Amino acid sequence: MSERVIPLIDQRLVNTVARVPTALVAPTGLLGDALGRPLRDLRISVTDRCNFRCSYCMPKEIFDKDYAYLPHSSLLTFEEITRVATQFVAHGVQKIRLTGGEPLLRKNLEILIEQLAALRTTEGRPLDITLTTNGSLLKRKAASLKAAGLQRVTVSLDGLDDSVFRAMNDVDFPVADVLEGIEAAQAAGLGPIKVNMVVKRGTNDHQILPMARHFKGTGIVLRFIEYMDVGATNGWRMDEVLPSAEVVQRIHAELPLVQLGASAPGETAERWGHADGSGEIGVISSVTQAFCSDCNRARLSTEGQLYLCLFASQGHDLRPLIRGGATDAELGSAIAAIWQGRSDRYSELRASLPPDASTGTRRVEMSYIGG
Ligand code: GTP
Ligand code: 5AD
Ligand code: SF4
Ligand code: SF4
Repeated sequence: MSERVIPLIDQRLVNTVARVPTALVAPTGLLGDALGRPLRDLRISVTDRCNFRCSYCMPKEIFDKDYAYLPHSSLLTFEEITRVATQFVAHGVQKIRLTGGEPLLRKNLEILIEQLAALRTTEGRPLDITLTTNGSLLKRKAASLKAAGLQRVTVSLDGLDDSVFRAMNDVDFPVADVLEGIEAAQAAGLGPIKVNMVVKRGTNDHQILPMARHFKGTGIVLRFIEYMDVGATNGWRMDEVLPSAEVVQRIHAELPLVQLGASAPGETAERWGHADGSGEIGVISSVTQAFCSDCNRARLSTEGQLYLCLFASQGHDLRPLIRGGATDAELGSAIAAIWQGRSDRYSELRASLPPDASTGTRRVEMSYIGG
């Protein structure tokens, strides 16, 4: 195995300050970026902490006891998050995903969910409000999350075999507890539930079929994610990526699949149905088949930095506006102007680079801006 170089870079420090444009941008719900892509999906990170140490996301060597997480004072309050989200919704957002780190570590998250659930799209509809979790606290929290207005959850789960799962989360967390969390979410009506499995060749690819068999016929949508070169600390290598086409082939050989159409524009996953009608799976192929051309996702960090791409090396700091007395119209216009200038399409561009060309590039960590 070749030696991995893991650079320690604090991407949180190099953002540009968001400014109010000279002409305010009236919210019409129809905002296009520089490539004509609408703004539809807002992902809000509510904490940069996690109780797992998945090596592809928060490797232990970097995220150790000395790692400087954000101080409490720099986190946006729930009121601040709701105020920012309201402006995003006015400019066209229809779906909000709460992420982390692990979002269920943020105290009283139900209060934020209640506030977000009261928002309406520009057409007067409730938002699609969902949450990405590692499932460790789901058993305890499923009922209160549902009561607060959360509609559904997506649970990250990288294998069914207990020893494989314990090794991948790297904190020896048992798989049975996550499976119980998923059951609790089902019982609470937090559906349709999705389960996301990041596939690393040679680490958990032998779990693809057991996972597919386990979730077939349960109503849960299992999605296989290509291991991405996101962040700057996970020591990513192309030879550990298992292309989605191979995932589909392996499953199809035992459990026949038929391809399904997209259910929404700009979707991350390609959908496949079990030929016997017992549910669907998805594959998310950001390495082998970029889906930037209709990417409608914006990301807000825990401390109010707006990122226009998962692979961004710079964010736009909204905090001076949020905390500096900008009006709602000014804040909304600043967000709109940033979106209008967006031309990010990292995965498409990386496809034209040689393999591993991006290793060590400066960019934000996924645990900081969320998936
Ligand atoms: P649904 O609304 O439930 O379909 O969710 P989603 O697929 O939009 O979001 P989710 O967070 O479940 O995405 C699953 C995984 O896809 C993430 O954990 C990332 O690994 C990857 N992903 C999501 N959004 C993007 C994106 O904009 N770019 C890239 N490259 N990968 C993404
Ligand atoms: N590659 C692909 N997906 C990743 N995630 C985190 N890091 C990576 C990576 N390097 C996603 C996983 C996980 C979610 C929280 O973030 O989908 O379930
Ligand atoms: Fe935590 Fe999810 Fe990252 Fe794993 S992938 S370390 S569970 S935030
Ligand atoms: Fe969107 Fe960036 Fe992901 Fe492309 S790489 S789909 S632009 S977030």
